[in-house]
Amino acid sequence: MRRNIVAGNWKMNLDYEKGVSLFSEIVNMVKDEIVGDQQVVVCSPAIHLYSVAKLSTGVNNVAVGAQNIHQAESGAFTGELSATQVKSTGADYVILGHSERRAYFGETDASLVEKVDAALAHDLTPIFCIGETKEERESGKFFDVIESQLTNAVFHLNADQFSKLVLAYEPVWAIGTGLTASPEQAQEVHAFIRKTVATKYDQNVADNTSILYGGSCNPGNAKDLFSQTDIDGGLIGGASLKSRDFLDIVKVFNAK
Ligand code: PGA
Repeated sequence: MRRNIVAGNWKMNLDYEKGVSLFSEIVNMVKDEIVGDQQVVVCSPAIHLYSVAKLSTGVNNVAVGAQNIHQAESGAFTGELSATQVKSTGADYVILGHSERRAYFGETDASLVEKVDAALAHDLTPIFCIGETKEERESGKFFDVIESQLTNAVFHLNADQFSKLVLAYEPVWAIGTGLTASPEQAQEVHAFIRKTVATKYDQNVADNTSILYGGSCNPGNAKDLFSQTDIDGGLIGGASLKSRDFLDIVKVFNAK
């Protein structure tokens, strides 16, 4: 059955020292406070990856991830990182298709197809983000938007490959805005995503897919969100930069 996952997305925050020290705090708190089998993932900037992956070695339930990769194996792509390079740091996850990458860095469904393939080829688990803008929500077209993001960027995978993905529903209007989707709004979309996956593959694949909610998730609203049937955890931006807040979100699933 699908796993509960709480993933932090540090975005472009924290210098090297502050990142390593926040990560150490998180690891210690997980050791002290968590008994469940929920997966904690920290997606740090690339500068931290090697060091935080080392700190997570042997720590049950804690893994690290990158926030992006380039689709090519290697070559003349100044400033980019390949899946092989990310994997060589000890990272196991990568966020792909985050709305900030789509909006500010021209990431398209076509480039995401290649990035998803590159990640899977190197045994990195994609945390694949989908979600509608405010206009798309207000016009009522959000189900179409989400269906087309899935169809165009991940439904080329066969069932085996698809079962290695984690999906994250992140309504763009809720990211970093303090405006959280209500548990009912989020559940409605998560159920739609699971149904769409079941139609494309089968019910078993759909039931085994972890679907995270992201967008202004915090210790105050995480419990109501994560108690919804089809919400299997969260992708946490702002609140992942404070160890106490992040752990309180992780602890919505079984704590000591
Ligand atoms: P937020 O970011 O929690 O700060 O809204 C979530 C995300 O962008 O993944």
